[in-house]
Amino acid sequence: MTIDGPEQLEKLKAIGAICRDVLKAMGAAVRPGITPKELDALGGKMLEAAGATSAPMLAYNFPGFTCISVEDAIAHGIPGDIPLEEGQLINIDVSAEKDGIFADTGASFPVGEIAPNLQKLLDATKAAQRKAMFAARAGQPVNVVGKAVQKEAYKHGFQIVEGLNGHGVGKWIHEEPTVPNLYYPADKTKLVEGQVITIEPFLTTGSRHYVEDEDGWTLRLSEGGHGAQFEHTFVVTKGAPIVVTA
Ligand code: CO
Ligand code: CO
Repeated sequence: MTIDGPEQLEKLKAIGAICRDVLKAMGAAVRPGITPKELDALGGKMLEAAGATSAPMLAYNFPGFTCISVEDAIAHGIPGDIPLEEGQLINIDVSAEKDGIFADTGASFPVGEIAPNLQKLLDATKAAQRKAMFAARAGQPVNVVGKAVQKEAYKHGFQIVEGLNGHGVGKWIHEEPTVPNLYYPADKTKLVEGQVITIEPFLTTGSRHYVEDEDGWTLRLSEGGHGAQFEHTFVVTKGAPIVVTA
């Protein structure tokens, strides 16, 4: 959506802060031995207390309040009951609705101690998200996002998953435009002042593709390895983004 006034901006900020707080609390609870299902229950309780509704449940009948993807699962993982193990990467994606407005955020977390290359993957993905978000100014083509993500990923020797993209958000969880993490020079779509979008790069240690699990939800890296994602919802302006989930 494109922000239609101060009242709508306040609603977006409110649901953005709820998603941020839920993600932060779930991330802080990540440790060896806890199950994704337990983390999801914590998130679900917090959403309810805040008067918010899980977006994946509302929009897609997803079997969880949040998406939790472990190891080579990169997105849309169903919170399961296998305890987390030291050295793993876990991705938590929190999106929710309140007063008719949606926000979407996500982050990858280390489970206990992780290998140095996995820490490097987390750092590079977070940096790619941030750099792309600050490049995404009104009047610029949407492909400045892919350009910035690609530059950061390749600099560190990581790959980008094709087909998992940022997106418009606001009145629904997934709206136009699609915000690719790869650079498509021919894409002339322009960013508009007041537009609400997410940027969510998916970087990996090698895989460029994903396959859907038999569970019908979990997206898994085709060539294995590890992946990470960081996501924020923000309002596009002529200058710095108004990040509502940070
Ligand atoms: Co998300
Ligand atoms: Co998203």
